[in-house]
Amino acid sequence: MPNDTPDDAASYRERVDRAADAIRQEGGTAPATGIILGTGLGALTDELDAEAVLAYDDLPGFPASTVESHEGQLLFGELEGVPVAAMQGRFHLYEGYSPKEVAFPVRVLATLGVETLLISNAAGGMDPHHERGDLVLITDHINLQGANPLTGPNEDDWGPRFLDMSEPYDPELRDLAKEKALDASIPLHEGVYLAVVGPMLETKAEYRYMRQIGGDVVGMSTVPEVLAARHMGVRCMAISVVTDECLPDALDPIDVEAALAAAGEAEPKLTRIVKGVVREIGAPVAS
Ligand code: HPA
Repeated sequence: MPNDTPDDAASYRERVDRAADAIRQEGGTAPATGIILGTGLGALTDELDAEAVLAYDDLPGFPASTVESHEGQLLFGELEGVPVAAMQGRFHLYEGYSPKEVAFPVRVLATLGVETLLISNAAGGMDPHHERGDLVLITDHINLQGANPLTGPNEDDWGPRFLDMSEPYDPELRDLAKEKALDASIPLHEGVYLAVVGPMLETKAEYRYMRQIGGDVVGMSTVPEVLAARHMGVRCMAISVVTDECLPDALDPIDVEAALAAAGEAEPKLTRIVKGVVREIGAPVAS
C-alpha cells in the first residue's frame, strides 16, 4: 500500500484539523449533512445552492491530487433548503492513495460537524436480477481491499480502537431511501457491496468467488469512507448504480460507454431519492 502524502510531515490528525480550520475561515458552514457526489449524483451540483466552493488543491493538508482526481472540490450550500456539504470528486485506492488519504475529506467533514453521510458509487452487478442502470441500496459490505483507514494509532476522541460494524449502513436512512424510492415509483434493489482496489475489472473466476461469498455488487470506493465516517459516529447511507452486469457464465468485456450511459440513465432516479432523504433529515423534528 502506498504511504500517506510523503511531503507533509504533519500528522494525519493535524492535517485534518488544519483543513477543517481553513474551511471554517473560508466561510464553509458546519452542516449536519454531507454528500459524496459519486457516480449518478453529478447533477446535484447544479441544484445545490453553493455559498462556498473550495478546491481540494487549495485546502491545506488535503492529499495532493493525481492526474485522475484533478477535479475535486467541496461545496457548501443548500439542497432542498437544507444546509449540506458535498464532495465533488473523491480519492480512490487505484489512483495510488492510501486508505487514510481516501478517507481524508470524510474525516474533515466529520470534524466540521457532519453527522450524516449520503454516498453514491458505480458498481458491477453480480446478482442476476440486477440490470445496467439499476440502483442498489447498500445494506452491508465486504472489504476485499486488503487495507482500511483505521489502522495505525487510534485517535481516541475521533472514535474507538475496535469499531463495531454490526450495522454500518443506518437502518433508519435505509428505510427513508426505500420510502422515497417507493413514493417516486423508482425500483431500488438492496444488496451487499463488495469493495476491491481496482483499477482492473474482475475475472470470471473472481466474480464467481465474490458472488459465492455474499457480494451483490462490486466496486472500487465507498468502504474506506464509510469506515472513517462510522469511526467518528457519522450515520451512512450508500446507493450503487449498476454500470455493468457481472455474471461469470455470461460475461461480456467491459463496455465503458455503456457503463457511462447507465450512470447517466440512473442519475434522475438517484438524485430524486437523495433529495427526498435530504429533505426529510433536514426537516425540524416535531416536538
Ligand atoms: N468491478 C469493480 N468495480 C466496478 C465494476 C466492476 O465490475 N463496475 C463498476 N465498478
